[in-house]
Amino acid sequence: MFVWSKVSPVSKQSILEERFLGLAQTNAVITELPGKKRFRIEVYCKDKNDAQKLLNEFGGQLSKLKIKDWAKLNSSSERPPIKIRDRLIITDSNKKSEINKICKKFEGRGVISIPAALAFGTGDHETTSTCLRLLVDLAKEHKKNNKEWSLCDIGTGTGILAIAAKMLGSKIVECFDFDSTAINVAKLNMLRNQTTDIYIYEADLFEWKPKKKKYWDIITANIFANVLNANLSKISTALAPGGNLILSGILREHENSVIKSAQKTPLTNPVIYRKGKWVSMHYRKD
Ligand SMILES: C[S@@+](CC[C@H](N)C(=O)[O-])C[C@H]1O[C@@H](n2cnc3c(N)ncnc32)[C@H](O)[C@@H]1O
Repeated sequence: MFVWSKVSPVSKQSILEERFLGLAQTNAVITELPGKKRFRIEVYCKDKNDAQKLLNEFGGQLSKLKIKDWAKLNSSSERPPIKIRDRLIITDSNKKSEINKICKKFEGRGVISIPAALAFGTGDHETTSTCLRLLVDLAKEHKKNNKEWSLCDIGTGTGILAIAAKMLGSKIVECFDFDSTAINVAKLNMLRNQTTDIYIYEADLFEWKPKKKKYWDIITANIFANVLNANLSKISTALAPGGNLILSGILREHENSVIKSAQKTPLTNPVIYRKGKWVSMHYRKD
């Protein structure tokens, strides 16, 4: 495994996020540096040539990931736990003693451990945290109406949304990603969080065929707008009547394109959430 990394001013963050958190390059970690004026991006590549191409294109540094660095990626906490409403706590700690402390401190809340890894979705990105908040609200709504629910998470990354759905009481949870590293990371996280009754598989949304006669009460898709736009009609057919669709990962400049795509489907009543340069949307199906 090779790591390409570069420290850049925050003014460049959009361009680099678009490049790396978009389509195939998901094994990127962006860390804001103290003072919030600069950030570090690290991209993990299996093939040295891929890392070399990034070095040629963007400058920066290339290094080989040592075994002990791998272990470090999965160790103790580097940031305070993230609170999602009054229901969930996301920690990047993998240490039993630290997790026990968090469970004690936040009694009654579900604690999800997602250590920084080679997949997207540790809870601190705006797009993920908005999805988590919406999920908590929808779980509450289903509970209030005494209604069982199922969820399909498209582009699962670390599996964070699928794990959260299971913890929030979803009866059936399915998720997929086209990145095999993400699938491995997500499986590990499911074991780590004792939410193994989730059906997870590797698939590309462009080739994904929703199962006939199986409709989801909630679908989450935190993926770039171009991927959403091309697949929104198919996604909406997989949704149960009255079902909820949570979309995220949409840059503000792409907001209208997603709204337009949704207008061609039975999706209605959009509620739009804007956070920084990111947009999330909550649709219901007629
Ligand atoms: C922004 S991350 C979201 C991860 C996680 N769901 C979250 O909310 O934090 C997008 C994920 O979608 C996956 N992805 C992108 N395009 C895809 C496609 N065409 N089919 C399946 N997965 C895709 C990426 O590999 C990545 O893991």
